[in-house]
Amino acid sequence: MISVHICVGSSCHLKGSYQIMKIFQEIIKNKNLEEKIDLKASFCLGNCTKGVSIKVNNEIFGNINPENAKEKFDEYILKKVNNND
Ligand code: FES
Repeated sequence: MISVHICVGSSCHLKGSYQIMKIFQEIIKNKNLEEKIDLKASFCLGNCTKGVSIKVNNEIFGNINPENAKEKFDEYILKKVNNND
């Protein structure tokens, strides 16, 4: 199970974390990844200048926005699912 936290702290929230949450939920549903990915909201990840921030397992990634969310999901999350890591 891969744990994914999307920051919903105030700075990230303003940059669209809610939309990113929706986009990720949609991808997880469409690809039937509910059993493999545990998606949650998180308080500030301490990476506000590079928001929106997400944490995948213990790694933090920034600069995610509603426009690049799909691409970033593939890059940071889907790859891990496929590697079973
Ligand atoms: S509000 Fe998201 S990292 Fe601080």
